[in-house]
Order: sequence, then C-alpha cells, then structure tokens
Amino acid sequence: MKTKIEKEITTWFRAINVEDIPNDNGICIKVRGQQIAVFNFNKRNEYYAVENLCPHKRQMILSRGIIGDMQGEPKVACPFHKKTFSLKSGKNLNGEDYCIKTYPIKIEEGSMFIGFTD
Ligand code: FES
Repeated sequence: MKTKIEKEITTWFRAINVEDIPNDNGICIKVRGQQIAVFNFNKRNEYYAVENLCPHKRQMILSRGIIGDMQGEPKVACPFHKKTFSLKSGKNLNGEDYCIKTYPIKIEEGSMFIGFTD
C-alpha cells in the first residue's frame, strides 16, 4: 500500500547508481537543478536523500555531514556547527525551528530514484 506522499509523486528520477555513494557517507548530486545530498547508511542498510542546504547559515554542505543515530533516528550533523537533522523527516533534532527537505527514494536494479511531486 502506498503512503500519501508516494501517491502524490508524479516523477521518479533516476539519480545515481547506489554503488557510487560511499559507504556510511554521503555525496552531493544535482537533480533537476537542485543540489541533493544522498546517503548510503550502510550500517542500517538504508538510503536517504535530503536537500544539500544547511538552513543554519545557508551553506551547501549536508552531503559532507556526519551520519549517525539518535535514539534510533537516523540523522546527519552539519560539519560546520553540528546542527543535526533527521534523515527521515528532516526535523531539527536540536529543538530549533528550521528543518530540511527530505525526498522519497526507491532503489531498483542498483539505482536510486528520487520522487518529485511537481
Ligand atoms: S551551517 Fe550548518 S550548522 Fe551552521
């Protein structure tokens, strides 16, 4: 059964071969003019895609963030000032107002597809 977000997706864009994403790390790709940070969270056997922009000081940096786990929640910490965001929801895990955009993904035949709702 599809989630509400999956039902709204109009385009699945083939973004990258998953083998090109470093283990337990991220990489920045440009998709449809947007910088997107994609992560291979190998320890959890999960992949994520979020905007590359850290909203704290508006730096394009999150693909170089440090991924980890906060009480079961997969997260990325910005390398500049360590603001931390959920990789699932984009929520700021430091209790601050700003958050990041997350993208629905699916993995098929060794490729990551990112869903858009335009
Ligand atoms: S620029 Fe990312 S935490 Fe400050």
